Amino acid sequence: MKLNMVSLGPGDYELITLKALKALQSCDAICIPTKSANNSFEKSMTYKIVKKLMDEFSFEKTIIPMYSPMRFKQEDWQRQVDIVFDSFKLYEDLCFVTLGDSAVYSTVYYLLDIIKEQNRAIYDNCEVIPGVTSFSHASAKVKKPLCVGDSSFIIRPLHKRKVPFTTVYMRPKVGMQTDIIKDKKDIYTFENLNYEGEEILNYKKERVDKYMTLFIDFV
Ligand SMILES: C[S@@+](CC[C@H](N)C(=O)[O-])C[C@H]1O[C@@H](n2cnc3c(N)ncnc32)[C@H](O)[C@@H]1O
Repeated sequence: MKLNMVSLGPGDYELITLKALKALQSCDAICIPTKSANNSFEKSMTYKIVKKLMDEFSFEKTIIPMYSPMRFKQEDWQRQVDIVFDSFKLYEDLCFVTLGDSAVYSTVYYLLDIIKEQNRAIYDNCEVIPGVTSFSHASAKVKKPLCVGDSSFIIRPLHKRKVPFTTVYMRPKVGMQTDIIKDKKDIYTFENLNYEGEEILNYKKERVDKYMTLFIDFV
């Protein structure tokens, strides 16, 4: 039993990752959100990407529509989670797809929060596959960096002014103390991700040992 939360990238199907493509190719069925109550995919960008990938890479999968009306109501997330649970009665390996990257304003974490509470086995067997964000794509389109040198960048929701935020700390100096980071309460240290000696710690290291270190103080 495996659940893959697959980021599809910003709409250009060629901007999907190989990992995401392989997850789609090897799963038994793909859960695709739709805003249409009649489960139609007529206006669905997500469906278009999956269809294009299936055509170009010659595979076909059962599609499971998930009505997702974007009302931000618990009952809507719960209904989608129930579809996932029911689908595991028929299938072993499922993908749920999301636009852009799952880390940024995605349904994925509303669903995962519920799944974590209601079925720990599915949560523990779930893999989140990251993707290209809409703003990485936008930046590339106009050949302008989001941050360079000593600048930083902020993502702000337009619908509300004062909101809690995640902070990503990058480009530390090796040997520096990290007491200048006034963390809130859920900070992680990521060292040498995908390199030899990768470490993920659920706290802030006191001293930076490697240049390839990220700290993320999660919302
Ligand atoms: C619910 S968020 C999803 C973000 C997505 N997970 C990502 O990684 O970019 C939707 C918002 O992302 C931005 N967005 C997503 N796709 C876009 C696109 N193709 N063109 C412009 N903005 C886009 C818009 O601001 C939109 O309101």
